[in-house]
Amino acid sequence: MDVLTQIRKPVEREMKDFESLFGITLQHQNPLLMIALRHVLSRKGKLMRPILTLLAAKKYGEINDSVLHAAVSLEMLHTASLVHDDVVDESGVRRGQSSVNALLDNKAAVLVGDYLLSTALKHAAMAGDLRVVGLVARLGQTLSDGELQQLSNVKSDEISENQYFNVIRRKTASLFAVCAEVGALLSGASEDEIRRLGEFGTYVGICFQIRDDVFDYYDAEVGKPTGNDMKEGKLTLP
Ligand code: IPE
Ligand code: IPE
Ligand code: MG
Ligand code: MG
Ligand code: MG
Repeated sequence: MDVLTQIRKPVEREMKDFESLFGITLQHQNPLLMIALRHVLSRKGKLMRPILTLLAAKKYGEINDSVLHAAVSLEMLHTASLVHDDVVDESGVRRGQSSVNALLDNKAAVLVGDYLLSTALKHAAMAGDLRVVGLVARLGQTLSDGELQQLSNVKSDEISENQYFNVIRRKTASLFAVCAEVGALLSGASEDEIRRLGEFGTYVGICFQIRDDVFDYYDAEVGKPTGNDMKEGKLTLP
């Protein structure tokens, strides 16, 4: 059994409920939007973020509809950020198939990303707890802030290790942190437990982005192009 299957095991049943709720969301009448949504939905990712939310929730209580909506919200925000990321990084492949910008164009990809982002906010509201809406909204700001800092760093000749960690804390680790926090808070964990889960998520996210940045220097089978970071002038830890 691979490691991700092992990690997912305690919430395997609930992940099925998550996947059907996530799938229902991505239906639409507009033909262009439908093409894009079908395309995005046809290849799911590793689903690490909802797995984290569900595991955190199960640690302190039950996985109810609120938790599922929050998990859908966070995976949707992640998906939106990938659609926009491929525009920013001018990348043509995502999850082993064309990115939305490559399939359609940049204009459509920006708009599809906006639609996904708004759907994320809708599900945050459907979780029925204002704290979740606040966390998801603030998270969107943090992710954009991280991406913009990264963009400024590309323009400067030098970037310190400290600047690198500031960027990845914002653009990646903040999402993992909120995934863990939201799961804990919706299942009645204490303030201190929520804070500690958030810290755990932050560390997982930092490790995850360093690992992703390492992959960029290899011919890795990761379903997306490698070698992009250096080409763009994006200096990372490796
Ligand atoms: C990709 O995240 C973006 C980064 C933070 C490096 P994932 O590797 O979790 O993407 P999917 O959802 O599994 O495709
Ligand atoms: C990851 O940045 C952060 C985001 C999800 C926006 P990357 O640009 O390294 O992500 P990949 O490698 O394209 O998935
Ligand atoms: Mg990218
Ligand atoms: Mg990027
Ligand atoms: Mg990368």
